[in-house]
Amino acid sequence: MRASQPDSLDAGVTELTRTVVGTQLGLVADRLGHRPRRTLEIGCGIGRLTPTLAQHSDRVHAIDMTPAMLDRARTACRHLSTVDFAQARLDRLPPPGERFDAAVCVWVLMHVLDEDQLAESCRRVAASTRYLTLVEYDHAHIPVSRWSRLRPLEHYLRLLPGAEVVDERTVEYGGDHSFAALIAFPEATR
Ligand SMILES: C[S@@+](CC[C@H](N)C(=O)[O-])C[C@H]1O[C@@H](n2cnc3c(N)ncnc32)[C@H](O)[C@@H]1O
Repeated sequence: MRASQPDSLDAGVTELTRTVVGTQLGLVADRLGHRPRRTLEIGCGIGRLTPTLAQHSDRVHAIDMTPAMLDRARTACRHLSTVDFAQARLDRLPPPGERFDAAVCVWVLMHVLDEDQLAESCRRVAASTRYLTLVEYDHAHIPVSRWSRLRPLEHYLRLLPGAEVVDERTVEYGGDHSFAALIAFPEATR
């Protein structure tokens, strides 16, 4: 979903990403033996995917660093009683008292341009959750803006301590290609 692409693609892309996120949260449920009790949404934006997380989890804690995005997400998701929102920047995320069962991060880390900030963000994610669905572009048909950086999955894996990929699929539309990786973290990462 990019500003440089026609609106007609948006509905299809949203459907596609909701399906991938729902499927991978289902895989987390299979592995845990119960659906995720607490799921962290990293960079929730306008709340496009939040209802899918709420459908597959007991509770959702959604964060975004941009107040205007959070306002729109709160409005769009006001009917969801199991979701709470907070303004937070990923590289400053305090460690949770207890790990989240799952975290979902879709097209957020591509906007973190500074490599030190990215490394700190990845370290905090790995310490905060047992499973992570990470969706990021690795190929763009139309070149991305200077506010985005495309990196392969392997780049993120090197920065996520203890990461083990347990499911990998792709999200493709309009000539763009993203990976969707479900990543497990050992309990000892903290
Ligand atoms: C392209 S949008 C994706 C939103 C949502 N995940 C989706 O797929 O619809 C990226 C969002 O990530 C947020 N974001 C970017 N960097 C962030 C960071 N370091 N910490 C928290 N949120 C961040 C932005 O404010 C924006 O709302």
